Amino acid sequence: MSAPEVAHDVRIDPLDRSTTCAAGQSILESCLRNDIWLPHSCTQGTCGSCKVKVLSGEVDHRGSSEYTLTPEERSAGIALGCQATPRSGLVLEPVEKVDPDDGVPRHPLRDHTGTVVVLDDIARDVRRLVVELDEPMAFNPGQYAEITVPGTGVARQYSMANPPSETSRLEFHVRRTPGGIATDGWMFAGLSVGERVELAGPLGDFGMPLAQAEPAILIAGGTGLAPLKSIARHALAHDLVPELHLYHGGRSRQDLYDVELFEDLVRAHPNFRYRPCLCEEDWDGSTGLVTDVVLADFQSCRGLSAYLCGPPGMVEAGVKALKRRRMAPRKIHREEFLDASHTQR
Ligand code: FES
Repeated sequence: MSAPEVAHDVRIDPLDRSTTCAAGQSILESCLRNDIWLPHSCTQGTCGSCKVKVLSGEVDHRGSSEYTLTPEERSAGIALGCQATPRSGLVLEPVEKVDPDDGVPRHPLRDHTGTVVVLDDIARDVRRLVVELDEPMAFNPGQYAEITVPGTGVARQYSMANPPSETSRLEFHVRRTPGGIATDGWMFAGLSVGERVELAGPLGDFGMPLAQAEPAILIAGGTGLAPLKSIARHALAHDLVPELHLYHGGRSRQDLYDVELFEDLVRAHPNFRYRPCLCEEDWDGSTGLVTDVVLADFQSCRGLSAYLCGPPGMVEAGVKALKRRRMAPRKIHREEFLDASHTQR
């Protein structure tokens, strides 16, 4: 018979902060809810960005796969913060260094409730969901929330598309997944304006929270536009970058949305360029894969930075293209989503 799960204290050594991990709660969730920032991205056990080194105590690795956490890493005392839960009191340190004085605002993870105020079809198989929250949620541009699918015990991740100045009205772009519990089973089926929803956030560390000296290229595939829209609106409103180039890739015109909004931003901000790209339709705009259009536009990306969000294939191709054009790897920020899985955003 296994021992009953109980709460344990966890100390983050280099930060000199402690939290109490509830029974069955992941180390990462306990830290984020107690305003202790640890590096993380997917919270699903797939990216590996939440690795921690256990300095003393014992953890249950739970759903950690060998793909994300190798047997050698386990033997060396490494654990995935988003999966592991303590089996005893713990002392640990994040593998990726945390600088509490880096100037990036950090916002604690909280549960929220709100009301659906907009649910519109905006592109092929894409809906805009806007939720008016009962209590505001502070977040950084590029972060995401987990929306609970009622009656299923399941939550799905969607990036906020609105800028962080709008803390009470969150906008999400939802792409339909055939047979998906959250989409075909709910957001594209029974959900309607006026209904109540539950969500938790903010999560993730993708985004542009601070001003930067170099121009930035934003590359989106499909609903990967959501976090980049938040970043673009925030960066332009606060003059965070000298130049901003937004690329949005789709197959045909049916896949584009918010075109007028971005064209208005182009007129208002001489340092902003917007380029929608279609790979399966000839039109008077850019034609081809979005990453090929970027390659054609930039002979050198040295001294620039990039933020990519979309399906893994697009993100991989984008990263390769940017490196070919000499962009420094540390200047390439990426967020992937899997269209047909639980990690859609
Ligand atoms: S593996 Fe833990 S945040 Fe991605």
